[in-house]
Amino acid sequence: MTASSDSYTLDWDLRQVKHLINKKFYPLLLAMTRFLVLVGGAGSGKSHFIAQMFIIRILAAMSRGIKHNILALRNTSPSVRHSVFALFLHYINEWKLDHLVSIKHSTMEFNWMGGSKIRCTGMDDPEKIKSFENLTSAWYEEATEAYPMDITQLNLRMRGKKQTKKQIVLSFNPIDQNSFLNDRFFEGGQPKANDPTATVMHSTYKDNEFLNDPDYEAELESLKDQDENLHNIYAAGLWGTLKNLIYPHYREIGSEDWPTEFDEVIYGLDFGDAHPMVLLEIGMIEDEIYERSLLFESRVPIDSMVERFEELGVDKNAFMYADPSRPDLISLLYDGGFNIDKADNDVKAGISLVKTKTPNIHAGSLEYLKQRKAYKLKEDRNGNVFDFQPIKVRDDGPDAERYGLYTYFSEMDMIPRVLGHV
Ligand SMILES: Nc1ncnc2c1ncn2[C@@H]1O[C@H](COP(=O)(O)OP(=O)(O)OP(=O)(O)O)[C@@H](O)[C@H]1O
Ligand SMILES: [Mg+2]
Repeated sequence: MTASSDSYTLDWDLRQVKHLINKKFYPLLLAMTRFLVLVGGAGSGKSHFIAQMFIIRILAAMSRGIKHNILALRNTSPSVRHSVFALFLHYINEWKLDHLVSIKHSTMEFNWMGGSKIRCTGMDDPEKIKSFENLTSAWYEEATEAYPMDITQLNLRMRGKKQTKKQIVLSFNPIDQNSFLNDRFFEGGQPKANDPTATVMHSTYKDNEFLNDPDYEAELESLKDQDENLHNIYAAGLWGTLKNLIYPHYREIGSEDWPTEFDEVIYGLDFGDAHPMVLLEIGMIEDEIYERSLLFESRVPIDSMVERFEELGVDKNAFMYADPSRPDLISLLYDGGFNIDKADNDVKAGISLVKTKTPNIHAGSLEYLKQRKAYKLKEDRNGNVFDFQPIKVRDDGPDAERYGLYTYFSEMDMIPRVLGHV
């Protein structure tokens, strides 16, 4: 269906929206300020709400002949495709709106009945951004990754007379108290009082009525005993600093850059129950390493694990190195035909090895990327660091990576030594 540019009579009952969005965010639908700032901890519902809000605005405008022109951004195009673009697709599907919109997947564009548009892109595509004029709204997701200039530019692209409110929406975890966003919108850690240009909403997982995941909540709270900064940022949604990061080096890549063939594929596996189980596929081409999570899930049923791995297309000939704490599960997968072995769990040597790599990580591995970006060393109360002692919370992804890479490389190194004895 092609979307018409005329006004369109909506066959969707907008009164439903109150039940579909978190109560905490509901008043934000009415915020008229130039900036709408959603700061908060992990899983508070920020991203879902913003995607819902833009769709609701478009639906409400549809029969009134008003056209929204919305730009949704993150720092890179691959990360946009797997987060904000995927979220809009999710709600179009969930709310059965596909007859109201035509979608161009290649360019991540939504053209709605009535003439409104949503376009998604990464800041790494400046030419594309320049082509967007007369924006009515913009969303910068994970805005701590933005430069102040990016936001100034967006502001400039939102001039001119339009019937709609013009608003820049910024959403982020407060991961760096030195961020320009702290300076611009906060004072002493609190939203600036009396800033007529901004509405700032703070939220945590406790505000998310749709989360219903006690394991996730318990894990966030357990950060309290391990690291004050991480607890502040991800549980309390307060400004902190991510310092003493273990793996600062990585590249995020999209499906278009994911190789079709590798010299070698291996797997790293961290078992879990309340904590997620992570199965990482690690591809290698000469010195380049490519990683993506095939599974990142809590409470994976054990009795169907073999079938699940088969469905995921795991290559039974490829080496799989697994969390050595569960020999029972290793046996189960071995009996299911997988080439699995227990990993070498030498944390110090493992981290030292992984630190030498700059893996290309698939942008669709959202949870894995989140964990890896925040993976950090333990500190004592005075901020002194414990060498090679990572925080043991939200470490499932980095553990799976270390099991895979370290065991593989140490076994490869062994080969010439073994042969030397023959
Ligand atoms: N309105 C909603 N309807 C249904 N589920 C929701 C809704 N809002 C949030 N959720 C659920 O809550 C989870 C967390 O929400 P969301 O990803 O929006 O949080 P966030 O604040 O953006 O988190 P982060 O800071 O980690 O990016 C989602 O994965 C989804 O399962
Ligand atoms: Mg989010």
